[in-house]
Amino acid sequence: MLSVQNISKSFTIHHLKQTRTAIGGVSLHVDKGGFLGIVGKSGSGKSTILKSIYGTYKPDAGAIMYDSQEHGTVNILDISDYDLIRLRRTEIGYVSQFLKVMPRTTSLELVTQSLLEMGEPQEIALDKAKDALRHYDIPESLWNNYPNTFSGGEKLRLNIARATVKAPRLLLLDEPTASLDYDSKLKVREAISKLKANGTTLIGIFHDLDFMEGLCDHVYDMNEKAQQVI
Ligand SMILES: Nc1ncnc2c1ncn2[C@@H]1O[C@H](COP(=O)(O)OP(=O)(O)O)[C@@H](O)[C@H]1O
Ligand SMILES: [Mg+2]
Repeated sequence: MLSVQNISKSFTIHHLKQTRTAIGGVSLHVDKGGFLGIVGKSGSGKSTILKSIYGTYKPDAGAIMYDSQEHGTVNILDISDYDLIRLRRTEIGYVSQFLKVMPRTTSLELVTQSLLEMGEPQEIALDKAKDALRHYDIPESLWNNYPNTFSGGEKLRLNIARATVKAPRLLLLDEPTASLDYDSKLKVREAISKLKANGTTLIGIFHDLDFMEGLCDHVYDMNEKAQQVI
């Protein structure tokens, strides 16, 4: 489904005349329906890998081969911006640690929009969005509010709702449970488990990989630069 081949990425900090290597020679792969966990210490380049797969960062070298439903096998580093945006709308989801949202969009609109992008009819999109908000305990009183007024935990749960409601073919998760309480973590685990059962391929960075026990089937360790079956 996805094969990351020897990617490297450096950042030049111009005012310090300094070059920082975020990742050097990372290779990993995930089969369709598989779940790969990425572990490693802070600053080791975990987020850089996910951002490269999502097309936010462009690695300096390597290739990222993805078996797209719409386009067949593509190198994400070579496709047009237009195709990348389409892939993000319909096939590849990404949950960051932070919620970045359009201003003046309510939480219900945000999740509904996510489904409309997939081509769901309005009525069905609205119903599914409400179910997702309920699942993540976003109170109905907040559905017509702007997320910038939400608490950190509410924002994160909304972010996860927005990405998981699409049941994307490939879902990238960057420490989605890091700042959640135990009950919210369980809800995330439950949603991931459902997605996996329905065939979504997953790559996730988790602080606490034990929490994903039984779901995660491979792990990539940044320190060893190697992928293992767990
Ligand atoms: N946009 C950026 N500009 C400059 N340096 C960056 C940028 N993104 C990441 N880095 C650097 O790359 C390294 C890896 O970062 P990151 O991938 O966020 O690590 P992790 O997610 O494992 O904590 C860090 O040293 C970080 O400062
Ligand atoms: Mg990170």
